[in-house]
Amino acid sequence: MQEGDRVTRVLVTGAEGQLGSRLVELGARRKTLRIVGLDQTDLDITNPSSIQKALSRHIPDVVVNAAAYTSVDLAESEQECAFAVNGAGVKHLAEACRQNQGALIHVSTDYVFGEVERVPLCPSELTGPLGVYGASKLEGEEAFLASGVQGTVVRVAWLYDARGSNFLTTMLRLADKHGRLKVVNDQHGVPTSAPALAEALLDLAERGQDMPQGIRHYAHAGHTTWHGFASAIVGHAGLDVPVEAVTSDAFPTAATRPAWSVLDGAPLHQEMGWAFESWQNALAACWKLREEG
Ligand SMILES: NC(=O)c1ccc[n+]([C@@H]2O[C@H](COP(=O)([O-])OP(=O)(O)OC[C@H]3O[C@@H](n4cnc5c(N)ncnc54)[C@H](OP(=O)(O)O)[C@@H]3O)[C@@H](O)[C@H]2O)c1
Repeated sequence: MQEGDRVTRVLVTGAEGQLGSRLVELGARRKTLRIVGLDQTDLDITNPSSIQKALSRHIPDVVVNAAAYTSVDLAESEQECAFAVNGAGVKHLAEACRQNQGALIHVSTDYVFGEVERVPLCPSELTGPLGVYGASKLEGEEAFLASGVQGTVVRVAWLYDARGSNFLTTMLRLADKHGRLKVVNDQHGVPTSAPALAEALLDLAERGQDMPQGIRHYAHAGHTTWHGFASAIVGHAGLDVPVEAVTSDAFPTAATRPAWSVLDGAPLHQEMGWAFESWQNALAACWKLREEG
């Protein structure tokens, strides 16, 4: 980086969440970015004056929205809350970013899809959420697009990290506790590393207003089932633990999950010039972070 090169100011919402915390940590290592992360106390996306206060104070070129209501099953009984954050909250944020002439990167989900043909899903695929969480996230996407804000909606699925509470850490905990695992084998998706996604979103942020416009899908190459993912995790951990494959009926949940959640990540990787790594390679890289502490 040369003296006089432009530094992009980035504000991350939901900065204490799984993705938000990685964005702040990894963004702080880039000389091209000046990154600030705010948690819900300092920036509540359901509150327009809280948003305006934060934007006036930090004057970001790009906001990355990692804030969301993410309790998929609870959303079925907390509909109002889910829509307030994932729908109205995104509308407030998008309108404020547009007024402040900043760009917005908003993270959305595969759960905006329902029953679909079993091919890798492109952004143009017809949506049809099966539950409240997916419907609330779809409302957020629509509010983003209607606002006219510059920026990208990035749909992702099956996020995990080497730390915190997610599928990877849950499998390790359950394997340790029970000495065996039972995992569903009839839902298909692409396990997605939160650190890898965070680096990708930071690359988008570095482009400022020139980032891709509209909806894009981020995913690694290939796909598997939760059972396949659990088996890979157990393999990395070197555990001698049987992983039994079961159908979704074995674990009834309040919200119905799509059976096919395979997002096609190839086009965005090509557009951005990223290497399109397999989900297995992404897991290996994330596992290394775990070992490094
Ligand atoms: N996790 C997945 O498997 C997955 C899959 C597909 C898409 N996504 C999407 O990926 C994004 C990041 O997910 P994640 O896994 O990092 O979720 P997360 O760990 O639940 O983080 C979300 C963060 O948003 C905060 N938040 C909630 N309401 C807020 C509000 N009104 N204002 C500001 N912050 C608020 C939460 O704070 P509190 O904890 O204090 O509530 C939390 O820190 C979300 O958009 C999610 O929909 C996730």
